[in-house]
Amino acid sequence: MELPKTNFFPPFNITRASHLVFTARDIAASRDFYTEVIGLIVTDETADTLWLRGVEERCHHSLTLKRTDGQPMCERIGFRVFMDEDLDKATAHFDKTGIRYRFVEVPHQGRTLHFNDPAGTPVELCATMPVVPRMHTKKHLHRGAAALRMDHYQVLVPDVMANARFYMDLGFRISDYIVVESAGKVVGTFLHRKGNPWDIVFLTRTGPRFHHGGYVVESFNDIVRACDMAGNLGFKNRLEHGPGRHGHQHSYYAYLRDPDGHRTELLLPGIQIIDIDDEPVACPVQPGVNSNLWGLPAPKSWVEEATSFAHVPVVAGPDGVPMTAERFLAEKKPDAVMG
Ligand SMILES: [Fe+2]
Repeated sequence: MELPKTNFFPPFNITRASHLVFTARDIAASRDFYTEVIGLIVTDETADTLWLRGVEERCHHSLTLKRTDGQPMCERIGFRVFMDEDLDKATAHFDKTGIRYRFVEVPHQGRTLHFNDPAGTPVELCATMPVVPRMHTKKHLHRGAAALRMDHYQVLVPDVMANARFYMDLGFRISDYIVVESAGKVVGTFLHRKGNPWDIVFLTRTGPRFHHGGYVVESFNDIVRACDMAGNLGFKNRLEHGPGRHGHQHSYYAYLRDPDGHRTELLLPGIQIIDIDDEPVACPVQPGVNSNLWGLPAPKSWVEEATSFAHVPVVAGPDGVPMTAERFLAEKKPDAVMG
């Protein structure tokens, strides 16, 4: 099975997944969720907009929430480029490759470039934001999971390989890819720029739709604390999946849904992937088998539900019949009992 090849000398330098923009119906309820459960810090707020960051982050925001009276959406996923000049290199590259783009004014960000990737995912690039103090040692101020920093996004797209190829032309590397062995088909790609397994993950589904954003925490106890805070503060039904441990050598996790259904993963820092011979690892999955190292498979809601991107048409994908916790338990698989 042929994977696309990374362009190790990309036309411009994307450094990392850095920020998200969601719309929310009740900013006060969202504020409670993100500050008390996830443990983000409010950098700034107006009556209609909230800018949040992780306790380790010096950037002004890694999550922007804008009030809406309509359906809550993901407006955009954001990446940092290394230098402001990289934005001009990006437009030169997009001119050559036929990607439409525009520069926009975004509060608390340097020059910001908007474009859509081949699946339609709305993306923005910027090099700078106002710098604010790190708060990771101010333990007396921490709440909830005290999420450290934005780590990655997962986006559902109908053609995983086409989108992976686009990002690999921009220098992204595949850490792992999910392959259905019986069909010889790649159904997931984990792509990174910053030297851990993920900046953006694509899974094969109807899309593009936003699945989750991942915030790194310091310890497993912080994940447990988020669950406890959710349980005590009226958000217990927002804990959707986990805690558990992903298969394929990766982290502990828990997934929580905010009051509008936007999904956040809390996870421990990923492994390091930098060396040139640290090549993509195939993660075979089999229909009907739980691929977690431990913990139940994801529930049906995690498999099927996602946040729409604003103003982006959705294309039906080969959604398949993934294993779910409900199906796993109903079929009483022998390894449903861990031992
Ligand atoms: Fe994730």
